[in-house]
Amino acid sequence: MIVAIDGPAGSGKSTTARRVAERLGWLYLDTGAMYRAVGLAFREQGLPVTEAAASGLVPGLDVRLEPGPGGTRVALDGDDVTDRIRTPEASRDASRVSALAPVRAAMVALQRRAAHDYVAAHPDGGVVVEGRDIGTVVFPGADVKFFLVADLDARARRRLADDAVGPASPDGPDAVAAALDQVRAELAERDRRDESRDVAPLKAAPDAVTLDTTALTIDQQVESVLDAVRRVREPS
Ligand code: DC
Repeated sequence: MIVAIDGPAGSGKSTTARRVAERLGWLYLDTGAMYRAVGLAFREQGLPVTEAAASGLVPGLDVRLEPGPGGTRVALDGDDVTDRIRTPEASRDASRVSALAPVRAAMVALQRRAAHDYVAAHPDGGVVVEGRDIGTVVFPGADVKFFLVADLDARARRRLADDAVGPASPDGPDAVAAALDQVRAELAERDRRDESRDVAPLKAAPDAVTLDTTALTIDQQVESVLDAVRRVREPS
């Protein structure tokens, strides 16, 4: 079984997808992490964000997601880049390189192969795949499809709360307000780029369930997805 969870950054899809996969004992596939690793490769090699550069780079890249105790680890050409792909710069780079057709073709092939291999080895299991184009392009025949949305403000607050545990924690109310403005602007810019690109833009599949998570708890989001999975597995 394939569960597709799409939506913009900060909509709650990563946490929801990860917890749903944990509850079911299934594979969790974070496709954004793959685009982040490719973005890092472009930056490390000083390449322009062009189709020509992508065509030269992508066939030789080795991007791997490995489930680990503290979450998915991401390896790029054998190096663990898990922490390096979680900066604001890496988010921007991922969004830019993900608009390139050769990058998308390679990542989509990788995602389909990972899901296929897992299901072949676990015939009673499934894969929870999270991204922007999972229900529309990667797995249009997914058994369960969700599209998560939330107010820009709520998404920015969540992002900031995630970051606030790090060394760059804002100090004082003015700093918090300024940081919030900055995160809001970054998210809006990334939404615009992800929604307006020619190849596989961020959008809901016609048969996806749209869930507004602005006022929902993570538990409520997880239960909504689990209910949908149960309905497919045990039709009444
Ligand atoms: O989900 P994320 O924030 O880690 O994703 C980073 C970027 O990667 C996002 O801005 C757009 C791109 N992306 C994509 O184009 N398609 C996907 N399936 C997942 C992510």
